[in-house]
Amino acid sequence: MRDFQELLQRNREWAERIEREEPGFFHALSQQQSPEFLWIGCSDSRVPANQVVDLAPGEVFVHRNVANVVSHSDLNCLSVVQFAVDVLKVKHIIVVGHYGCGGVGAVINGTRVGLADNWLRYVEDVRDQHVALLNENGLSPQQRHDTLCELNALEQAENITRSTVVKDAWARGQQISVHAWVYSLANGRVTDLQFGVEGKEVREERYQRAMQGIRDRAMHIGK
Ligand code: CO
Repeated sequence: MRDFQELLQRNREWAERIEREEPGFFHALSQQQSPEFLWIGCSDSRVPANQVVDLAPGEVFVHRNVANVVSHSDLNCLSVVQFAVDVLKVKHIIVVGHYGCGGVGAVINGTRVGLADNWLRYVEDVRDQHVALLNENGLSPQQRHDTLCELNALEQAENITRSTVVKDAWARGQQISVHAWVYSLANGRVTDLQFGVEGKEVREERYQRAMQGIRDRAMHIGK
């Protein structure tokens, strides 16, 4: 357990260390930000955006919520996406799920968690959409959980490609790629689901490619 006051002390030491290693770092960042990446991930404390990809402050724009959901009626998420695309002009939008996600687990096990049950309906929609794959004979409970984590990351990334913000940006010729990743708490590694969509004309093909990978992992090799 950390003492609350310790956080402020750690902050001072961190800021001094960064400034010592790279004089002028904070001043330069205070003038502008120009991240190339938008990370949309789970709120889970074990999946910190910058650390997972080893990027410094200023390099990744971040939105996180329970179970990395992208809903077309969530003004919070859509505002982040709009700012990232239209103002910051990020090059990549990455939806990052993670194995062992508590939100996804609640859906797969039918556990009530409270108010978040309503939010997790979006993940239930993903489960229902892929019920045939998830009910495939031979899948262990662990594999079903892992597979729904992958499916959820893919479907939320797919939602990004269908947002007016991204569709309009592509129509203007702006270069943006949308990706779906899943992070492993067990070894710190990211699995790229091979979605990688840089325009609406390739969306369907890349979706099928990602789905094939998810099926293969579920059926043969685990994660
Ligand atoms: Co999670």
